[in-house]
Amino acid sequence: MSTTLDGKVALVTGGSRGIGAAVALRLAREGADVALTFQQNQHRADDVVEQIKALGRRALAVRADSADPSAVAAAVDRTADTFGRLDILVNNAGAFLLGPLEQLTLPEFEQTMAVNVRAPFVASQAAVRHMPDGGRIISIGSNVAERAVFPGFALYSTSKTALIGLTKALGRELGPRAITVNLVNPGATDTELNPADGPNAGAIVGHTAVGHFADPADIAGAVAFLAGPDGRYVTGATVNVDGGFTI
Ligand SMILES: NC(=O)c1ccc[n+]([C@@H]2O[C@H](COP(=O)([O-])OP(=O)(O)OC[C@H]3O[C@@H](n4cnc5c(N)ncnc54)[C@H](OP(=O)(O)O)[C@@H]3O)[C@@H](O)[C@H]2O)c1
Repeated sequence: MSTTLDGKVALVTGGSRGIGAAVALRLAREGADVALTFQQNQHRADDVVEQIKALGRRALAVRADSADPSAVAAAVDRTADTFGRLDILVNNAGAFLLGPLEQLTLPEFEQTMAVNVRAPFVASQAAVRHMPDGGRIISIGSNVAERAVFPGFALYSTSKTALIGLTKALGRELGPRAITVNLVNPGATDTELNPADGPNAGAIVGHTAVGHFADPADIAGAVAFLAGPDGRYVTGATVNVDGGFTI
């Protein structure tokens, strides 16, 4: 087992399944104690917690809807209070609302921006109050921020593109504290949100260079690199982990 994150504490939002769960488990395998948030499924969160504990790490699941800014900030504070520090924040929870422009509603706009943009902002703000020098903020965006292949993505693409600006601005601002801030943009990744055997999978895969979906572990690998010591000189960057979708 690797120990590049020995003694570190991480918080992963939306860490109870999919990409977030893969990230939480990878960071734990690298040596970190890990807190994760979830919205609805306590048993899924508990399952990931048990897997982390089986790796010999401490783990905590916090129900915190990313649409609620006070819940997001409280989850950050609870992580730091429980484990005594906070080194790594992974903003992963996302809202995925698609539809033609004329049919998208203002509540859908507010929900998307609250979860995909405001929550990473609020969590980052709360996290840097706890982070020592050398901390890490990593957000999970999407390759559709870089390339608009399909119609119906007005809300989702807009929200994920905002993370590029947040990442650059915070990278600049927090550099003097050696806190790096980066964005990982997954492509099609086999999760319950976007199953590799779903109805649109063939069309999506056709736009990749490698011809298949990512496994959540592929995204977690990029996050682990940025979270670890080898990532210390990378900041403000957007890393596409999309099998060539954006080539
Ligand atoms: N899968 C892809 O192809 C893909 C591609 C590009 C980008 N992404 C991005 O990757 C991230 C994770 O996607 P995924 O495919 O892993 O999704 P997923 O399989 O649907 O898992 C979502 C996770 O986030 C939690 N969650 C959902 N809404 C939340 C909220 N409002 N507050 C707190 N937690 C919430 C869920 O918890 P509950 O079970 O409790 O609801 C679950 O743990 C998202 O930001 C997504 O936009 C995914």
